[in-house]
Amino acid sequence: MAERVFVFGAGYVGLVTGACLATSGHTVTVLDVDERKLESLRKGECPFFEPGLSEVITKALAAGTLSFSLLGDIEAVENIAVIAVGTPSTATGSADMTYVRAVADFLEEKAAPGTVVVMKSTVPPGTGAKLSARLAAAGLGYASNPEFLREGSAVTDWFETDRVVIGGDDASVAKISRLYADMDSPILACDVTSAEMIKYASNAFLATKISFINEIAVLCDFVGASVDDVSKGIGMDTRIGASFLKPGIGYGGSCFPKDTRALDFLATLNGYDFHLLRSVIDVNSRQRLLPVRALKARFGSLEGHRVALLGLTFKPETDDTREAPAIEIAELLQAEGAEVVGFNPIPVTIPGLDTIATTIEEAVSGADAIVLSTEWAQIVESNWPALVASMTGERIVFDGRNALDPKVIRAAGGSYIGVGRPEGVGANNHAG
Ligand SMILES: NC(=O)c1ccc[n+]([C@@H]2O[C@H](COP(=O)([O-])OP(=O)(O)OC[C@H]3O[C@@H](n4cnc5c(N)ncnc54)[C@H](O)[C@@H]3O)[C@@H](O)[C@H]2O)c1
Repeated sequence: MAERVFVFGAGYVGLVTGACLATSGHTVTVLDVDERKLESLRKGECPFFEPGLSEVITKALAAGTLSFSLLGDIEAVENIAVIAVGTPSTATGSADMTYVRAVADFLEEKAAPGTVVVMKSTVPPGTGAKLSARLAAAGLGYASNPEFLREGSAVTDWFETDRVVIGGDDASVAKISRLYADMDSPILACDVTSAEMIKYASNAFLATKISFINEIAVLCDFVGASVDDVSKGIGMDTRIGASFLKPGIGYGGSCFPKDTRALDFLATLNGYDFHLLRSVIDVNSRQRLLPVRALKARFGSLEGHRVALLGLTFKPETDDTREAPAIEIAELLQAEGAEVVGFNPIPVTIPGLDTIATTIEEAVSGADAIVLSTEWAQIVESNWPALVASMTGERIVFDGRNALDPKVIRAAGGSYIGVGRPEGVGANNHAG
């Protein structure tokens, strides 16, 4: 059965949610406060880079099931209202609930009684219990429906999600389940607070896997083991699983850093010291120092050295640079006196980095070091012998994602440094 849906927030989550629900036949209006964003959306242009999303928007617009509206222009909201606005970090690490509160206030005033408010934004466990009581007084239902999509593969993730989590009373869960009726994914129904906790616990666990393998990578460097082989070997154990075991300069983005901080804040607020999570966060911060430490160890001072920083987004296939490791690395390298030239396969800017080349060749030519920060295919699959040949001096290649073949870099006269990949160890790594 087609449902009438209003989605608040035309960001990565709101837009994917709205467009995908509309292609499934639901009648969706996506609302935002940013008129410029809405103008381009009405023309079928996606305001950010997300593979496949433009096509889904165009299809839904053509079918007449998707529309866009400025928040201030909407007079009535009914049936289902999905909140998908940002919940960034505050200075304390807690989740900033300003945008969520603004939408909740709006709905309290404008939504027709019987409307079910669905929280898709990531909000601290306990939020829904309080908010639902307030909304109930206005005759509104409430459900928590956390989102697990990943930028870069958001559309596929939407349609092929491992699970849909819906927290709420029986009536709300039944209603929201209908949004996913055409999908094969299992639905986990639970109470609101547990649904909220599932989202934070999932992100914290994935971040833990990343920091764990990063710790193992450090030990691999000490003892002369290949973290690539170790990661593969432990990932083959089905109890562990192979995903999120890739070592490197750490996680970034708009979710893991802020959600781990918010969960840690929640623990502290409740008088509990979440040691393990604190260590996960600390290890991640330390990983970002690795390229700077490695270059300082080689050059002594970075003064007068030119470094090409490749991959400025927090992961490939997105234009999102929120909390991308490249931001901090650029800042640290420049503070040490290096001249940094950035490059990203799709045009983006990052704070504090003024020089961004339009081609990888331009960024690398004349550099005496490279830091590979994000493993875009366009970067990894470049002509590395030619790139190394265009460098000068020691031609150091710091591979922050263990994505390059050390043999190729060394054969071209470069000096390769990976994360947990000591020279001469591992299948990918022998000199010949
Ligand atoms: N980005 C992800 O990969 C991802 C994945 C899962 C969950 N989440 C969570 O989903 C939420 C949204 O994240 P995002 O990355 O889509 O955020 P975003 O910053 O990309 O988008 C938020 C949108 O909300 C709009 N907005 C702000 N106030 C508004 C209001 N009062 N009414 C209507 N629109 C308003 C903004 O203009 C913006 O377009 C966050 O809580 C995030 O943690 C994000």
